[in-house]
Amino acid sequence: MSGPTDVAACVEEARRAIAAAGSTEELRRVTAEVSGKRSPLAEMSRELGALEPEARRQRGQHLQAARAVVEGLLEERAAALRFEERSRELAASRLDLTEFLPGSPAARAARGHLHLVSQTRDELEDVFVGMGFEVAEGPEIETDWYNFGALNIPPAHPARGMWDTFYLDLGEPETTLLRTHTSPVQIHLMERAVLDGALPIHAVMPGRCYRRDTPDARHLPVFHQVEGLVVDRGITFADLAGTIEVFTAAYFGPDIHARLRPAYFPFTEPSAEFEITCTLCRGTGCRTCSQTGWIELGGCGMVDPAVFAAVGVDAESWTGFAFGFGIDRCAQMRHQIADLRALVENDIRFLRQF
Ligand code: PHE
Repeated sequence: MSGPTDVAACVEEARRAIAAAGSTEELRRVTAEVSGKRSPLAEMSRELGALEPEARRQRGQHLQAARAVVEGLLEERAAALRFEERSRELAASRLDLTEFLPGSPAARAARGHLHLVSQTRDELEDVFVGMGFEVAEGPEIETDWYNFGALNIPPAHPARGMWDTFYLDLGEPETTLLRTHTSPVQIHLMERAVLDGALPIHAVMPGRCYRRDTPDARHLPVFHQVEGLVVDRGITFADLAGTIEVFTAAYFGPDIHARLRPAYFPFTEPSAEFEITCTLCRGTGCRTCSQTGWIELGGCGMVDPAVFAAVGVDAESWTGFAFGFGIDRCAQMRHQIADLRALVENDIRFLRQF
């Protein structure tokens, strides 16, 4: 039968185990061992029944005192561990407030920058302003007259197939639309200039356009163009070709050239498509340019007399040229962006490169 010394040994053993518990988790296990139903002290308490009354009383008191000591040690250790663990947590997640002192990088609110398309529009404007052009803008919602009629594209003319149009559901069907190109701004400018007696015109007109295109690597249903219009005395096709060549070299670099190929637009005569040296292969031929060494950028031509007639410009005294090309396409060519859709996906990892 065990005596008082085993009780003292049990307490010592418990003290050692409790002190060795390194975490709340471990202490829970130790608690079961030293004060649970199967602990030696509990076992000894169960054996009390077999003792004589006097011995039972004494040993009972002894055991009770021992269990109180063990409980006290457990509580103490639990509190100490809780404190240690909380301190460790706090140290790990500590906020370093000095990071937010004025002047440190983290204190400055993260600053964005203009979207690549806006940067490109600004740069194109700069190039043309440097060549003596003014910058003008026009509405994105247009009437059929400005987008088509005044540009020598009468209703039901087959050329309308060149522009798949979004119409607005306002009153008369197919009278109000989202402009499919920036060419209607030519009409606004010429009308105003005629009213104000303010010819000549040397203007570029950047802006958003809309077409019912399925988006792919080279097309977006919402895209940007910059239109150019010169109306002056004695303007010839050579002025047009020279303007495009100078712009191309200024924007893309001196080793990129422009060439004109015959084309058809209802509002210019003669008309041309203009192409630039493929910026990927620099003219040697690659997949992007279908091995031609050239990439189409836009359309151009001499202002058709029918357009002058529509806005009241005297075609005997004035001649002019116009051009229009894609701003997004320019950005794509200059920065070698494989897929135009990246411009509208808002992936910050893509956008912050520019
Ligand atoms: N507006 C035409 C288009 O978007 C391009 C163009 C503009 C052609 C000016 C000739 C003159 O397709």
